[in-house]
Amino acid sequence: MSRRHKDEYNGPRYLVVDKQPHATVSEQFRTIRTNIMYSSVNTEIRSVLFTSDMAAAGKSTIASNMAVAYAQAGKKTLLLDADLRRPTSHETFRVANREGLSTLIVNDIPFQEVIKSTEFENLDLITSGPIPPNPAELLSASKLEAIMIRLMTHYDMVIMDSPPILSVTDAQLLSKHANGVVLVTDVGSNNRNRLNEAKDLLNKAGANIIGIVLNGRPKQYKRDGPYYHYQESTVT
Ligand SMILES: Nc1ncnc2c1ncn2[C@@H]1O[C@H](COP(=O)(O)OP(=O)(O)OP(=O)(O)O)[C@@H](O)[C@H]1O
Ligand SMILES: [Mg+2]
Repeated sequence: MSRRHKDEYNGPRYLVVDKQPHATVSEQFRTIRTNIMYSSVNTEIRSVLFTSDMAAAGKSTIASNMAVAYAQAGKKTLLLDADLRRPTSHETFRVANREGLSTLIVNDIPFQEVIKSTEFENLDLITSGPIPPNPAELLSASKLEAIMIRLMTHYDMVIMDSPPILSVTDAQLLSKHANGVVLVTDVGSNNRNRLNEAKDLLNKAGANIIGIVLNGRPKQYKRDGPYYHYQESTVT
């Protein structure tokens, strides 16, 4: 692993919507929030899965900022770290990760034991829990459905983080439990074939793709933050 590659995985996931609420990028997160609200006329979107084509596209950064943006709007929000392979939400929100989603699926423990409050009003967090040897098997368990139903009765919005869809099957499994899926891609390195492949995998799983976020800071596009394009179900 090159140094640059290693740094990509270890860098902080900056909560810009909290630290710089007036920055352009924070406004963009709020726009994504509005667009999610209007993305579906018939179904109210109350759970959104963030996945990506490739690793390190910015899913966790965007999911965390979106969760804060929802909480700031007064929505009772839960960030669910369903990336049971490379979880980061416990680092971003500086909480322990001794128990979380993996423990909730495997053990019969009360929800209160895994739900952590954060420094943000209206925002709770369920971290990944210990990384299991068989993440896809855990995510296929029928218990996940029951967990999601329970969470959605308690929260206005459940934001889920996940691994990249072209690498492992987890996001396909998780997409069944989300009202909508947002595909994040790194604008500096994405490619049409990969995006189409990601879209096909999500469609095969019956996912409701509600948009794509083009994340990155290429000089030719933006001065700062994620450059995004967002519209109803298009990745062509
Ligand atoms: N728009 C951005 N501007 C600057 N840095 C960013 C941006 N988006 C993400 N990063 C940085 O890129 C790195 C990877 O981001 P992140 O961990 O969110 O990606 P990921 O898709 O969740 O990765 P993984 O596939 O490992 O789960 C992090 O160090 C993060 O701080
Ligand atoms: Mg991540």
